[in-house]
Amino acid sequence: MTMAEPVRVLFLTAEAAPFAKIGGLGDVGGSLPKALHAMGYDVRVFMPAYHNIEAGFPGVESMPLQLNVPTGSGIVQAGAFESRLPGSDVPVYFIAQQSLFNRENIYGYWDDPYRFAFFSKAAFALTESIDWRPDLLHAHDWHTAPAVTWLATAGQAHPRYHGLGSVFTIHNLAHQGKTNWNVFDYMQIFTHSLTEEAYGEVNFMARGIYHANIINTVSPSYAREIMTREGGVGLDALLRYRQGDLHGILNGLDYDIWNPATDKRLAGNYDINSLEGRAENRLALQAAVGLPQIPDIPILAIISRLDWQKGLDIVGHPLHLLMNGYAGPAQFIVLGTGNPQYENMFAQMASYHKDKMAAYIGYHAGLAPLIYAGSDMFLMPSVFEPCGLGQMIAMRYGSVPIVRATGGLADTVQDGITGFSFYDLSSDALWHAIQRATYVYNTDKEGWRRMQANGMKADFSWQQSAQGYQQLYEWAIAQMRYRG
Ligand code: ADP
Ligand code: GLC
Repeated sequence: MTMAEPVRVLFLTAEAAPFAKIGGLGDVGGSLPKALHAMGYDVRVFMPAYHNIEAGFPGVESMPLQLNVPTGSGIVQAGAFESRLPGSDVPVYFIAQQSLFNRENIYGYWDDPYRFAFFSKAAFALTESIDWRPDLLHAHDWHTAPAVTWLATAGQAHPRYHGLGSVFTIHNLAHQGKTNWNVFDYMQIFTHSLTEEAYGEVNFMARGIYHANIINTVSPSYAREIMTREGGVGLDALLRYRQGDLHGILNGLDYDIWNPATDKRLAGNYDINSLEGRAENRLALQAAVGLPQIPDIPILAIISRLDWQKGLDIVGHPLHLLMNGYAGPAQFIVLGTGNPQYENMFAQMASYHKDKMAAYIGYHAGLAPLIYAGSDMFLMPSVFEPCGLGQMIAMRYGSVPIVRATGGLADTVQDGITGFSFYDLSSDALWHAIQRATYVYNTDKEGWRRMQANGMKADFSWQQSAQGYQQLYEWAIAQMRYRG
């Protein structure tokens, strides 16, 4: 569908691949805008200029302008860079402020709420500098909730922003961006506190949910789970209060990037009709991580942020059994970084089982595709999972997922058809699922192939989901129109 007068969408995110990616938020930031652009939206991505952008990133240009951003501590100056999402015409603008964003890491600083509060205000200032008036704000996770908050409060007094609606997407409710009330002085916002906020506290995630016209999360199951006390991380009552405006839309994959038939990062390309092409990737993978190049042995893999969320506490025991041959011969590969407790667990087990297991502790964008293409099974036993892209990429590459049936994992993996799923958050349940998988793998080659093919056939493109966002955009714009 194309629109006569394209709707202008201000897309704010802390991550967009390839410019910044810690996890799935980066994948979504780098791909959803392309799908929206293809539908006729004038969508523009705004994100901070992190260290790698300041240091010089291919295709990113400095903009000859200076932003004077008003804050409670006076005018703070910022600059900007610009680029496009690779393979598209989607503009990307980077807000540059050396002391706030030119740091070693993307997150993890005491002043993160202030850094992103500044980013939000500066993004509005940049739209003014480039004389581009958005019709809609689409903000992602707590980092950009300050923009939703400002827009719904101070922003409504501003003629340029009066009537501008917002959509707020929750990628992970566990990270809420809590800080103190001074941040509202800094942002020049006057507002009341929320029930979810302790005295003197600001909770940006709660603010995004409270102030946005329309809220969504990244799978239908997670949308339901977060309205319960168990899954609501303290915000379930607020989410139930807003449930008429709360939706679940499954993430899609960027098919330009994640396609085993064209992916140049692989040792060899293949598709559903040439699955034997995976063999070359298996060998290349085994060589790359230093495991013996045994042809028929099942290779199990994990690629993940090493965070409590990912269910790593139930992995230790099954991995011990697997490495000791209780499910027959097997190899295990993990790629991940995060909590040192999990990094050490994997590194130690790998050093003990050198001939069967490899642990690559770090972030390695180039190795990930080879693992998806060369492994047979992909583990995601998450405690909770808003959507999860790993299992979708794995299916697309013919690696059969073994997942805990929660959130987006429950919505994307069909037990016995495209993968193996289990319910209990326990080592036993995970071990049983691993045994079921290795049993099929070892005894029923045809059945295994069928499962691989089912996964590869499933449609995880953005096409359908982007239409979901179109609907949300229309609702948000309509709500503001009725309000006048
Ligand atoms: P989350 O966003 O919670 O981290 P997702 O499954 O949605 O989980 O997305 C994870 C993304 O990050 C996938 O694209 C995965 O391939 C990638 N990824 C995670 N850890 C690493 C790593 N250590 N090296 C390379 N890619 C990684
Ligand atoms: C978050 C979630 C993950 C989701 C991603 C992109 O990082 O943990 O499940 O896929 O956001 O929406």
